[in-house]
Amino acid sequence: MVSLDTQHAQSFLDDGALADLKPQIEEAHEAVLNKTGKGSHMLGWRDLLLDPDDALLQDIEATAHRLRRDADVLLCLGIGGSYLGARAVISALTPYLSARQPDPPSPDTPEGQSMHPSQPPEVRFAGHHTSGAYLRELLSDLDGKSVFVNVISKSGTTLETALSFRVVRAWMHDQFDAPSDRIIITTDKEQGALNALHEANDFYKKYVIPDDVGGRFSVLTPVGLLPIAAAGIDIHSFFYGAVSACEEISADAEHDALRYAALRYLLLNDDYDVEALAVFEPKLRNIGRWWQQLFGESEGKEHTGLFPTVAQYTTDLHSIGQYMQQGQRNLMETFLMPKKDPASLSIPETEDDVDGLNYVAGKTMGDVTRAAYDGTAQAHANGGVPNVTIWFDALAPQPIGELLYFFEHAVAVSGYLLDVNPFNQPGVEDYKSEMYDRLDR
Ligand code: PA5
Repeated sequence: MVSLDTQHAQSFLDDGALADLKPQIEEAHEAVLNKTGKGSHMLGWRDLLLDPDDALLQDIEATAHRLRRDADVLLCLGIGGSYLGARAVISALTPYLSARQPDPPSPDTPEGQSMHPSQPPEVRFAGHHTSGAYLRELLSDLDGKSVFVNVISKSGTTLETALSFRVVRAWMHDQFDAPSDRIIITTDKEQGALNALHEANDFYKKYVIPDDVGGRFSVLTPVGLLPIAAAGIDIHSFFYGAVSACEEISADAEHDALRYAALRYLLLNDDYDVEALAVFEPKLRNIGRWWQQLFGESEGKEHTGLFPTVAQYTTDLHSIGQYMQQGQRNLMETFLMPKKDPASLSIPETEDDVDGLNYVAGKTMGDVTRAAYDGTAQAHANGGVPNVTIWFDALAPQPIGELLYFFEHAVAVSGYLLDVNPFNQPGVEDYKSEMYDRLDR
């Protein structure tokens, strides 16, 4: 279960402010449930949880099984909502250091077959920027490995992804006898260049992104589910975690997801217009990057919204910690914390205690993290930074599914409180048209 702790934010709010906002919160929540708000034709991300498609989950699992058997690397090409969700969940739920053996290809491994068929493939990402250096190094590193590609683009026309796909396809043709059998596309049901390419090349598999699900809300569609399943993560538990959060939040107009939206709204009205999502477990940093897109693209329009940024503590306490404590006072902070310590690593005692650390001997690194979190939340509140904490059960598929839905629902309600359409992103087109002009499109 996901919950919100507001003890370090209450004193920053006027008495009764949250209670006074209740009717507006309920109205926004109802508009999400009943599809009566702005952009409500893009609420398909809820529908797919209200009526789960188990056959699709099974189909994705079957494809992932083949990838786990045949691929050393699954290369996912996509940008924005077409990669941030998968990357977030995979980072959160797989080991820091890959268990994959680093040994070179055996001369007995037939060309194009996995060197390590019993391990999930390494999932890598590209197509999310325009760096030629990155692509060149990536492809050189992939040389000799059994590579499969999942190109993910709802429009099928996003330049960063499309260009990377062009380069990667040419490389695949040089590397493999039947490159199309190694390519999976995830795109619109009929529109866009990826569909045309599929028609011409007959790729191994196509998954459809539903019309009514926008990129940043698509992690629970094949956009996120296929790479996540390929990485060896239990997508059934992950998906049904989101289903249970959807049921729970939909039935409770006082749920913490709504309190989170309300609190941020009240703080924004008091000129706290920057929100830092802070994690102490580095594995959660990419959940922060996913959250950043979800909130930034959904709220940041019509000259409103909190600017979302991500901090990884305690590392960043030694860089932006000074600013957080004593810089401009327009900041609020949201800590994202698992209730369960992901690893119980004890600190050993030494006989001589030369480093003077025996005072923590016998505690775990998790105990130290907890002290760092408690201390930071208190110190930042003392320094004028209202902060809240979102607690979730553990770094496991079901709680991560719950957490992602918590944020999706919160941002929809938040958009309606701000009176914007949370499901479009008209501003993103501006840099594209300037760029296309310069490329003589
Ligand atoms: O949230 C969104 O809709 C965007 O971030 C898109 O996901 C991103 O621009 C990529 O678009 P596409 O999937 O069409 O390539």
